[in-house]
Amino acid sequence: MSGIILQIQGLTQQFKGVLAVDHINMELEKGRIYGLIGTNGAGKSTVVNMISGNLAPTAGEIVFNGKHVERTDAAHHAREGIARTFQNLRLFGDQTVMDNAVTASQITRRYNLFEMLAYLPRYRREEKEFRENAWEALKTMSIEQYAETQADNLPYGLQRRLEIARCLAIRPKLLLLDEPAAGMNPQESMQLVEDIRGIHRDHPDMTILLIEHDMKVVMNLCEYIYVMASGKMIAEGTPKEIYEHDEVISAYLGGSVHRKKGPASC
Ligand SMILES: Nc1ncnc2c1ncn2[C@@H]1O[C@H](COP(=O)(O)OP(=O)(O)OP(=O)(O)O)[C@@H](O)[C@H]1O
Ligand SMILES: [Mg+2]
Repeated sequence: MSGIILQIQGLTQQFKGVLAVDHINMELEKGRIYGLIGTNGAGKSTVVNMISGNLAPTAGEIVFNGKHVERTDAAHHAREGIARTFQNLRLFGDQTVMDNAVTASQITRRYNLFEMLAYLPRYRREEKEFRENAWEALKTMSIEQYAETQADNLPYGLQRRLEIARCLAIRPKLLLLDEPAAGMNPQESMQLVEDIRGIHRDHPDMTILLIEHDMKVVMNLCEYIYVMASGKMIAEGTPKEIYEHDEVISAYLGGSVHRKKGPASC
């Protein structure tokens, strides 16, 4: 099916003594927003680490954009169109906001050292593109007015937005967001929902996989949700189906959601 951007089969990660991810399957279509939820230690970030090329799977298959992913190389994955944020912010605090976004996009560079030192056309062309893409990304996340601000001096909520802008700067086909609302206050979380909606609107072909503990954020944004517990995929479905799934309620939601009201609309 041509609409599938990512297909995962039997994906597994065995750390010493811990089966962190246990033969999971996922299928993501182009241009949709997916959620991946689960309790602490369920294996969500490990899944993202494998998809993004930061960690080699122990077993299983990843097919991205029709190609089998054979290598474990984050830069290669970024060039192919996979971008990810980290659960703990990984900004360059002493760089400006703009330089953070430009540096992020440079991971996709194809020019070599010689071309750079000799200031050859490919180097100049790519660097121009990186600056343009970085600027677009800052605008999408509404932080362009802070372009010259040092990242460390941004309030926390804006740093989180910059982390996403850094991903957008590589113009990904698949955006993996690992707890982007972590540490945000409710107001910032709802702003994040609007930001992600804006990304979806501006980039309708981009697929987004959102890992998030904040159920309000997940239920508001995601069209389809995967649920993990102890390394296994225990459920998947629409927000409504997940909301009414007994195993999910007992394993994850633990009664914290008021089922009578029904999920917030997407
Ligand atoms: N590098 C590692 N070495 C050994 N064990 C690891 C490693 N990374 C993760 N684990 C373990 O794998 C399991 C899954 O961890 P993971 O970080 O993927 O969970 P998570 O669902 O992202 O949790 P959280 O919601 O707390 O972020 C946990 O038991 C964790 O301790
Ligand atoms: Mg995690």
